[in-house]
Amino acid sequence: MCGIIGYTGHRPAVPLLLEGLHRLEYRGYDSAGVAFVQQDKISIVKSAGKLSALEAKLADHPTLLATSGIGHTRWATHGLPVEKNAHPHLSEDGSIAIIHNGIIENFLEIKEELLAAGHTFLSDTDTEVLAHLIGHEIQNSTSILEAFSHALKKASGAYAVVMIAKEDPNTLYAARMSAPLLMGVGTGENFVASDIPAFLPYTREVIFLDDAEIAVVKTDSWKIYSLEGLAPVQKSISHIPWDMQAAAKDGYKHFMLKEIMEQPRVITDCLSGRVINDSHEMRVQLHELDGLPIPRRLHIVACGTSYNAGLWGRQLLENVGGIPTDLDIASEFRYRSPILLPDDAVMVISQSGETADTLAALRLAKEKGCPVIGLCNVVGSSIARESDVVLYTQAGPEISVASTKAMCSQMTLITLMALYFAQRRGRKNDPLLHALCLLPNQLSEILPSLKKTAERLAIAFSGARNFFYLGRGQCHALALEGALKLKELSYIHAEGYAFGEMKHGPIALIDHDFPTFALALNNELFSKVRSNIQEVLARQGRIIALVQAEDGVLPDLNVEEMWVLPPSHPATAGFLALPALQLFSYAMADYLGKDVDQPRNLAKSVTVE
Ligand code: F6R
Repeated sequence: MCGIIGYTGHRPAVPLLLEGLHRLEYRGYDSAGVAFVQQDKISIVKSAGKLSALEAKLADHPTLLATSGIGHTRWATHGLPVEKNAHPHLSEDGSIAIIHNGIIENFLEIKEELLAAGHTFLSDTDTEVLAHLIGHEIQNSTSILEAFSHALKKASGAYAVVMIAKEDPNTLYAARMSAPLLMGVGTGENFVASDIPAFLPYTREVIFLDDAEIAVVKTDSWKIYSLEGLAPVQKSISHIPWDMQAAAKDGYKHFMLKEIMEQPRVITDCLSGRVINDSHEMRVQLHELDGLPIPRRLHIVACGTSYNAGLWGRQLLENVGGIPTDLDIASEFRYRSPILLPDDAVMVISQSGETADTLAALRLAKEKGCPVIGLCNVVGSSIARESDVVLYTQAGPEISVASTKAMCSQMTLITLMALYFAQRRGRKNDPLLHALCLLPNQLSEILPSLKKTAERLAIAFSGARNFFYLGRGQCHALALEGALKLKELSYIHAEGYAFGEMKHGPIALIDHDFPTFALALNNELFSKVRSNIQEVLARQGRIIALVQAEDGVLPDLNVEEMWVLPPSHPATAGFLALPALQLFSYAMADYLGKDVDQPRNLAKSVTVE
């Protein structure tokens, strides 16, 4: 979604804003712009398309004198992704400029009132309406801060807003309501941003703003107020442990490839401190959950890849952990009045911790008195802060829009949870825990050859316009994930399906031009999958089958391509299959020349519903 950066300090602001916007590119965007005060006037430069187009325009503008400013990458919600709709937007009188992430739900009503008062609008956006409203309030208020808060109190919806004012050029005004916004605290300079990487080279000291808070940020000081009543709010500064290295490509062609190859380290970090080896006895330690009664029923709620991780984990939570587990897509859960009983718990899964639908589901569960467990990657994110119990997946920053290592870390943590609940019930599962601990080495060994095979298969199947991904049991979740990755990265139509459902309709699509990626791993459902594969072959379907050799013997499948993974515990086979699926989609998108790290129309952190 939209990327936000604001800077006030001693350096030339515009190059710094552009640098920050580049580091936020991964969030996905379709236009960009900056605003800064120079010669008693707010200058705005903006452009549709990528940041390079904005940079080309800025080359004609003298900007070096400005040491404060705001910058924005827009992911269109209201109005086409064209220059006039790009942020920043000015008030009617040009006295303030704002950038915004989120949606002002009552903007049409406000716009009508302002039109009646003689305002004219240059864009189709809700943001410009908010800018005009603030400008309008300034005329009737004693201070810019008061006007800012009056205007925001009239706006309903979600927002993270940053404003500069002509009168007070070295101050940033920022406010947050259900959209991520944080401050970076430097020496003689301060930052406001939607995400930490925007200012990471300059400071790792961060203040997370909460909903209904306003920050007034100056070059060497900052104050935070409540939106209601402008009462001062005390905030603490958090230190971010990761540095720019963690958010850099490290020699890889794309962030996605780097993040796939990092998965052995991700599993190690996720297990670290959570698997205890006491006098030759291994056990799982999840202190965060110790105070929580074992839930009568667990409701997993998430979106996209995080949902697929939940679907993959349900079987483990039920069969190993002994916990009846339901699963919902967050945008469905929040509007279907779910029945949550007193002993239930809700588990929300989110890499970013800012997904609007997942956050709304969390709030609904809390309203209904249900404890919420948050599985989150981003420290200090809204979901992490609002969950009753948060388990961090510890995957490190995920920059590529397509989620990869986050899913691996979520699967690791869910497996640990299943083992933990089993332990609390007095049931141990040593073979699974051992298998989990072996994974980092096992994965490190196979990743280079998986990459090679993925590249070869991507070329061989690059002519396909459609793909089925089919699996049963836990492999159904992996099939959904494989299809999601292929479609989002290479824009090839891909359907993930439960293999057993094929003959209830979808098998009609199979012919020589509609290939299938079959997940045929070694588990109790293998013989069923083998029959399903025969059904596809009988209809001239081309098949890539992901299989495991047992005692060196390959399964007898008469398929076009057999992609062989090493043997494993049945419940950890998914960790070996996942990178194969990811690398196949990566190689396909790269071969087809697609924008791997920033696929079209997508945003990294989906902060609108
Ligand atoms: C797909 C992808 C998305 C996210 C989804 C949820 O590659 O990245 O489907 O998984 O938007 O995001 P989080 O996990 O941040 O809540």
